[in-house]
Amino acid sequence: MRDMNNGDAPEEVGFCLYRSVALPHMTADEISGIIERSAENNRRMELTGCLHHEDGLFFQWLEGPPIVLFRLLDKLRDDSRHLDMTVLDQGKLPRRLFPDWQMRYSDRTAGSLMDWLQRRDDSSVGSIGTFLREIRA
Ligand SMILES: Cc1cc2nc3c(=O)[nH]c(=O)nc-3n(C[C@H](O)[C@H](O)[C@H](O)COP(=O)(O)O)c2cc1C
Repeated sequence: MRDMNNGDAPEEVGFCLYRSVALPHMTADEISGIIERSAENNRRMELTGCLHHEDGLFFQWLEGPPIVLFRLLDKLRDDSRHLDMTVLDQGKLPRRLFPDWQMRYSDRTAGSLMDWLQRRDDSSVGSIGTFLREIRA
């Protein structure tokens, strides 16, 4: 992603990791629609991140300017295509973890979060973040 700061002050990067329950029977087309629209919007809003879909759950990592990020989180809470949105972690970062991705998408064909957590015997939030960073989508 290009540097939005003209080389002046370092960019302030907020992040949020949440989990939600996907609406049952969501089709691949519906999910592609979400990803396409998200990538377009995120480019405009200077947000980056990833969305992982597995076993009826979404895990999404979003990062970028905090104000824009929190505005999007409000929209996401109102989106009826998923339920029970639970923020697992949020805060500030020294730099983006997904600078090249407006919205990377993965599902269990790219890597299984559930298997990964079981193998590590650790389902901490940090471990979920590590999985999202290391998986090859
Ligand atoms: C699981 C999930 C992830 C989403 N991720 C994003 C996202 O990263 N960026 C985004 O703009 N909208 C995302 N959306 C859609 C928003 O909830 C909302 O519908 C959209 O931002 C409205 O934008 P529009 O007015 O351009 O349609 C997501 C929706 C779901 C269900």
